[in-house]
Amino acid sequence: MLLDTYGRVATDLRVSLTDRCNLRCTYCMPEEGLQWLAKPELLTDDEIVRLVRIAVTDLGVTEVRFTGGEPLLRPGLTGIVARCAELEPRPRMSLTTNGIGLERTAAALREAGLDRVNVSLDTLDPETFQRMTRRKRHADVLRGLAAAREAGLAPVKVNAVLMPGMNDQEAPELLEWALEEGYELRFIEQMPLDAQHGWQREGMITAGDILESLRTRFALTPEGQEERGSAPAERWLVDGGPQRVGVIASVTRPFCRACDRTRLTADGQVRTCLFATEESDLRGALRGGASDAQVAASWRKAMWGKKAGAGIDDPSFVQPQRPMSAIGG
Ligand code: 5AD
Ligand code: SF4
Repeated sequence: MLLDTYGRVATDLRVSLTDRCNLRCTYCMPEEGLQWLAKPELLTDDEIVRLVRIAVTDLGVTEVRFTGGEPLLRPGLTGIVARCAELEPRPRMSLTTNGIGLERTAAALREAGLDRVNVSLDTLDPETFQRMTRRKRHADVLRGLAAAREAGLAPVKVNAVLMPGMNDQEAPELLEWALEEGYELRFIEQMPLDAQHGWQREGMITAGDILESLRTRFALTPEGQEERGSAPAERWLVDGGPQRVGVIASVTRPFCRACDRTRLTADGQVRTCLFATEESDLRGALRGGASDAQVAASWRKAMWGKKAGAGIDDPSFVQPQRPMSAIGG
């Protein structure tokens, strides 16, 4: 098991497959992009599958989420998914993507064994999309979403971040659209994970703001705590249900106490938290000829050092070196 000193057990593994991205969301990256990891630094497909196998067979991981940057930019993605689907016990597998290219790949990913997708989409307006992501790709994302739904990658979840002065008025409209399309919408509070370190507590759109705005058009009733479990999203039934909306309040209502995550970066570092300031190198162990048992022991040791919480609202909070695109959501 991946146990920490606060008694939490990590069963949900997030694997970043690349730090590259074809969008430039303002809350994530600067216009010019970042210094990408060089190919030899990246874990190979074999190394990724080996680590997932160790996680699943030796460390009790039951859920695997592939992330990026943009994971669809990784050429071997479908093969990685197919190989992970053969593991015993078979993990549940999902993908967090910006949706560009999903139109072409959704069916193959489903066939390979992917269970679900989370697609990031912050706005229904192509111009706002272009302002927020600095790319003209709104239509691609909508087509990617539809393809995911058709391929049965259900439930298709949509992640939206609201930014002041950009899309902060759009919450009710986004929800109405998601209900119509049959997508499960979740709002994520903007976190201090941008490469430019431009995040500001003042002015950020909080979970409270989002709920207030949604309640102008919908009746929301909270879903019970039991159903939330370790899921970061707090969920509400919309107009009596059965459809729901989620809010991930990482800043104003952190859920660290129930966290069941462990993370691997594209260059093979274990991160115990999105906001961790330390990492533990597994790539060195893999390439140095370590046995599965030795790799598993290093991973356990890393998780044992997991901190109680991120404390974003705490004055002593320091933003991690790596931006979101190099950690994975
Ligand atoms: N704050 C909140 N969410 C973010 N994402 C990327 N950067 C941030 C940030 N600074 C979201 C993306 C995607 C998921 C991986 O995380 O929009 O949905
Ligand atoms: Fe790319 Fe996701 Fe960052 Fe946007 S938030 S630039 S889609 S990695």
